[in-house]
Order: sequence, then structure tokens, then C-alpha cells
Amino acid sequence: MKKNDFPLYFYDSLESTNEKLKEITEEKDIPEFSVVMAGHQTAGKGQEGNSWESEKGKNLTVSILLKPDFLSPANQFYISKIVSIALLWILKELSIESKIKWPNDIYVGDKKIAGILIENKIMGNTLSESIVGIGLNVNQQEFLSGAKNPVSIKDILNKDVDINDTLENLLEKLMFLYKGPYEGETDTIDEAYLKNLYRREGIFSFRDINGEFQAEISDIETSGILVLRDTKGNVRRYAFKEVEFV
Ligand code: BTN
Repeated sequence: MKKNDFPLYFYDSLESTNEKLKEITEEKDIPEFSVVMAGHQTAGKGQEGNSWESEKGKNLTVSILLKPDFLSPANQFYISKIVSIALLWILKELSIESKIKWPNDIYVGDKKIAGILIENKIMGNTLSESIVGIGLNVNQQEFLSGAKNPVSIKDILNKDVDINDTLENLLEKLMFLYKGPYEGETDTIDEAYLKNLYRREGIFSFRDINGEFQAEISDIETSGILVLRDTKGNVRRYAFKEVEFV
């Protein structure tokens, strides 16, 4: 399957590709892997109600439509996993080693190179629609919004990278990985996700509602729950937003 087989909606400027893709899907029936791409987002959305900064024309800001109705809501974390791995793979092809900071931030060293915002629609016991929003810092070198620790491909390679080629490559990887959960073949995805986690090995500081503690990553449950083992040997389980890396 080539990217060109699917509709690409390009906008020079819009508020948020996630919002635009939602609007389009409400108006008409469009196929999986339809893409909304923005030259510039004026109100890019990040996780936890944050905004997503992206300089005009410099980065990849897209939303991709999936209809993973073969997945139950309990398995929706597979979408996060395959999107994260696809990003890791395209960066690896550029000789950039990256890691997945649980649940789905993409990091190079201690800096964030990409963010993912997935908005799912659940109907009955299936995932009827998944809006996969991806912001990958490609050629931007000055970040103004006070984002904590951004980095771009250009920061690392010292050269411009073509945004359209990057999208095409990302879609290819994503289509390939999507076959995993579609065919019920999820072991390799689980393995790749776990193996490529940021701070996978060793004891690090974390913070939850009760304060800071030291722990190591023990596992990620199918639902996406992060399982930590603290230095006292206690096992702690966290959903997204319940714990942070310090
Ligand atoms: C994060 O906070 O890490 C998630 C950032 C996701 C940003 C992307 S950019 C394209 C898509 N449209 C949005 O409004 N947000 C996502």
C-alpha cells in the first residue's frame, strides 16, 4: 500500500489536525489512513491539555485516521505502541537512536523529539475510530513556548530533512506495524515497545501523588499500566498521568 492510495488533506494553516480530522470524519466516511497535514497549526493540542508548539513549515504535524474495530478498548494501547515504534524506526533510518518515554513520548537522550496524541472513539466493545495525532520536530531549531526539553532532527543531523518524505516513510512503517494487532500477532510489538523504553534499565526517580521515590520499570501491562518496583521491593502500578519521571 502506498500513501498515495489514501486521501491526504493538506492545510497551510489550521488550528489542530486532530480537530480537523474529527470534523471531516463527522461529515463523511473516509478510509483508514486518511491523513490531515498542516503547514502550520495555530492551536496544536498536546497531552494533558497542553499546547503543541510547531513553527510554520518546519515540522511534521499530522493526524492519521485508523478504524481498529478489531481491537477491544482493553487493547487500545496497541495503537500507542505501534505509532511509537514507527517513529523510532524512521528516526533509526536517519541514524538517530530514540526511546519511548512511557506512555508515548519519543525521546533522544533526555530530550523530546516527538509527541503523540491519540483520541479514540469507542462503540460497544470495539475501538471504532482512532485519531492518531503526531508532532515530530523536524527542522525547527528555536522553541519559544517554554516546552521543557525539545529537540529536532535538524538539531541532531545539522541538515534539513524533507517533511513529505518523512510522512510517507512514517505511513509505510505504520501500515506494516498495524498488521500486527490486526492479525493478532502482538508479541513482537510488545517486545519492541518494552525493549525501547526510556529508562528501561536501572533505578530512577519518579513522582506520584505521595511524592518522590526510586524505582525501576518492571513491566507495561497490556492496558498500558506502568508497573514499577521501588527500592523497597514494592510493586506500584500507574495509569497515565498518575506518575511522572523526575
Ligand atoms: C504531546 O503532548 O506530547 C502530544 C503532542 C501531539 C501533537 C500533535 S501535532 C499534530 C496533532 N494535532 C494536534 O493538535 N496535536 C497533535
